[in-house]
Amino acid sequence: MAQCLTFPGEALVLDMATGTAEVAVEICKYHPQAKVVGVDFSPEMLKMGRKKVRSRRMDSRIHLSLGDGRQLPVKDGYFDAATIAFGIRNIEEREQVLAEFHRVLKPGGQLLVMEFDIPDDLLLGTIYRLYFDVIMPPLGNLLSRTNYAYSYLADSVHGFPTANDFLKEIGRAGFTSLGIKKLTYGIAKIFRGIKSA
Ligand SMILES: C[S@@+](CC[C@H](N)C(=O)[O-])C[C@H]1O[C@@H](n2cnc3c(N)ncnc32)[C@H](O)[C@@H]1O
Repeated sequence: MAQCLTFPGEALVLDMATGTAEVAVEICKYHPQAKVVGVDFSPEMLKMGRKKVRSRRMDSRIHLSLGDGRQLPVKDGYFDAATIAFGIRNIEEREQVLAEFHRVLKPGGQLLVMEFDIPDDLLLGTIYRLYFDVIMPPLGNLLSRTNYAYSYLADSVHGFPTANDFLKEIGRAGFTSLGIKKLTYGIAKIFRGIKSA
């Protein structure tokens, strides 16, 4: 994800639904001139994230803040770029979140969204579905000692729009130069849009 980010020189990047700040750390590694604001509405995730940021000595470049992607307490055009990894699938109000991304980005700012998907290739897709729908949920639930976490993952991926439909949603939020990059045969995808200058 971090490698796909482009911005000129110094930049302030928003990593929404940052969780334990994994993406924020990667962005700082790949872009030595960038600073990142990681936002999440879970204090527990941010606590783990802050520990990680301190241990990597990135406190001066990553600021983690409690907040909700549906309504960000920042002024219009505040960020040079924005990312969200494996977060938007869990938010029902996608349209509102995409509109917030558009509002808080500067004109020309890049949005990257990473999400799970099913491979487009028929054979790979069928094999992956077998793993994803039949093998992974009970096995994952057993290993994580829950009866919902991995069932929810499979259900939420199936409940998400198709890649092309989601890209259209990004377009409807006002982004242009739309694109999709497939990762690992399409089991994850990075969606790209630019806020028109
Ligand atoms: C699967 S985790 C992904 C974390 C991180 N982006 C990563 O890739 O490791 C999803 C995160 O989204 C956060 N989240 C869900 N809805 C949110 C919202 N409306 N505003 C902010 N964070 C949200 C959750 O608290 C959780 O930390």
